[in-house]
Amino acid sequence: MNWRATVLTLFPEMFPGPLGLSLAGRARERGDWSLQTHNLREYGLGRHRAVDDTPFGGGAGLVMRPDVVDAALSGVLGAGDVRPVIYLTPRGRRLTQADARRYAAGDGVVLLCGRYEGIDERVLEAHGVEQVSIGDYVLSGGEPAALVLLDSVVRLLPGVMGSERSGLEESFSDGLLEYPHFTKPADWQGRAVPEILLSGNHAAIAAWRRASAETDTRARRPDLWAAYASRTSNNALPGT
Ligand code: ADE
Repeated sequence: MNWRATVLTLFPEMFPGPLGLSLAGRARERGDWSLQTHNLREYGLGRHRAVDDTPFGGGAGLVMRPDVVDAALSGVLGAGDVRPVIYLTPRGRRLTQADARRYAAGDGVVLLCGRYEGIDERVLEAHGVEQVSIGDYVLSGGEPAALVLLDSVVRLLPGVMGSERSGLEESFSDGLLEYPHFTKPADWQGRAVPEILLSGNHAAIAAWRRASAETDTRARRPDLWAAYASRTSNNALPGT
């Protein structure tokens, strides 16, 4: 299987960036996934290869032109290309682990990175572009967000992550944050590892980890906790 990522950006030098190293980089060398970048500037207009213009309605900043983005998408996408086209923007729906799993199960993604104030909404509509945000903060462009999205997906591709087990137990796989981790030394600067973890009692350890995951999720992520608690038909969960 060759999972394909295509990135349209004004800054192709930002790729593969961290995805050229470690797990993702080795997986790419093996051919588990591939990355192609295209410079949106190549589709710019006139002598200056302009890609943006002032916003209708006034306001600060510049907006990427629909004709330029359309030419880029049409130039890059083949006829039978069924991959989702995703525009990284703080206006998008929030990226989740479920999205990462869904993208990993497909043939790949086409990522559209904007600069300036954004991209003309009409070309996003016309191409059925998904709008995705990586969190409630504003980056200076979509590129770091595209790298984040790709990292979250590539590690899920078959054969990429060393241990399949750690994928099943990690944060969000069951709607909870993962339990905390400890390693040697058992006593470090007067801080002892929770004793149960040294007991060898696997059932007790599993119960302790589940309880820790619930406690931490409730304290740190009330949004996840509320969804988890309402899904778990057991209404007697602590703190609900
Ligand atoms: N571009 C700028 N900010 C972003 C964000 N938070 N998520 C995705 N793309 C962005």
